[in-house]
Amino acid sequence: MQKRKIMAMMLSVVLATTTLVGCGSGREGSTNTSDEKKTEATTQDTASDSEGEATETATATEGFEEGATIGVSLPWLGTQNWKEAETMFTEELEKAGYKAIVQAADQKVPQQQQQIESMIENGAKVIVVGPIDGTQLGSVLEKAKDAGVYVIGYDRLIENTAAVDGVVQFGSVRTGELQGQALLDGLKAEKGDGPYNVELFGGGPADPNAPNFFKGAMSVLQPEIDAGNIVIVSGQTEFTQCATEDWDNAKAQKRMDSLLAGNYSDKEIDGVLSPNDGIARAIVTACEDAGQPNPVVTGLDAENESVEWVWQGKQYCTVAKPTQDLVAKSIEIINSLQKGEGMPATDVATDNGKIEVPIYELDPTVVKKDNIKEVFANDPDRMALLKD
Ligand code: BGC
Repeated sequence: MQKRKIMAMMLSVVLATTTLVGCGSGREGSTNTSDEKKTEATTQDTASDSEGEATETATATEGFEEGATIGVSLPWLGTQNWKEAETMFTEELEKAGYKAIVQAADQKVPQQQQQIESMIENGAKVIVVGPIDGTQLGSVLEKAKDAGVYVIGYDRLIENTAAVDGVVQFGSVRTGELQGQALLDGLKAEKGDGPYNVELFGGGPADPNAPNFFKGAMSVLQPEIDAGNIVIVSGQTEFTQCATEDWDNAKAQKRMDSLLAGNYSDKEIDGVLSPNDGIARAIVTACEDAGQPNPVVTGLDAENESVEWVWQGKQYCTVAKPTQDLVAKSIEIINSLQKGEGMPATDVATDNGKIEVPIYELDPTVVKKDNIKEVFANDPDRMALLKD
């Protein structure tokens, strides 16, 4: 995904295009190159104009009634961040006076499509979506657009469709850069001089964040691999080799078990790149089971158990991307839409394969034992986990 800063003027053109193109047909699973996609979008744009859909642009920027229904469609509840999102959206939307429909789809794409479909039928004015698969929601979201519903991507990009008004997320490539840098820093701090024996893990391949996390991390690690300071003993350095289907911790643990059995019977593993906390704990457990000394392992989400592990030195670091900040930003956008003020301005956009999607980007923070009390100073629940 190519990201770039754009000027406010350009953004309003993008927003208009988003709405104009919003009524096209489903384009799931498209494998077009991004240049082809741009051409296609332009063609559709013209077609939309000739069908007179400019009127709909005007309608779509109108506000809606206070107390309206807002849908929130989450991919699953398998990691703490999504459970927090379920609770916080339910509470915060109701506090703001809306009627909330908050559902999670258990990693099953058809279930998520049906849930969104029923939110449209129930008259939702805005649907907030954390997609299971970034490319598989085009048709149903285009139905939402046809019904005049605003669509906001949550935490993950929505790909290959024009039917998205904006995405609220922590920088995904940035998150990976922080993970890669923390791994490198941890190796130097904890494992003496290199070269270091390292293995790499990625997240679920359908989640658009996962390749971006990996890409960001590899931008830091690849030069060290090239210089011989880091050795990927298994030789598995491609995202496709390292990905963890469905973000499933058990699958990650199985892969770690076999990497250790196949490559480390006569050597120690020094570090592992992990895309999130659940996978980090699976990796640490596999290393323990294999009698390996504790490697430097990264993470993401500041899950309670990993906050404890970081504090105890069992997991080297995590990355905090507070759910309350993402939910607050989403509700700020919903309020702006409700009042008829449209999507707030932002100077970041990402090519989703079809259009330049406005991104409301927040900054993630690395959490290590030495800054953990500072990072969670305003988070009493996590502070309570840091027992001496
Ligand atoms: C989220 C992570 C989460 C992962 C698995 C990603 O898209 O950004 O916070 O750990 O999905 O649920």
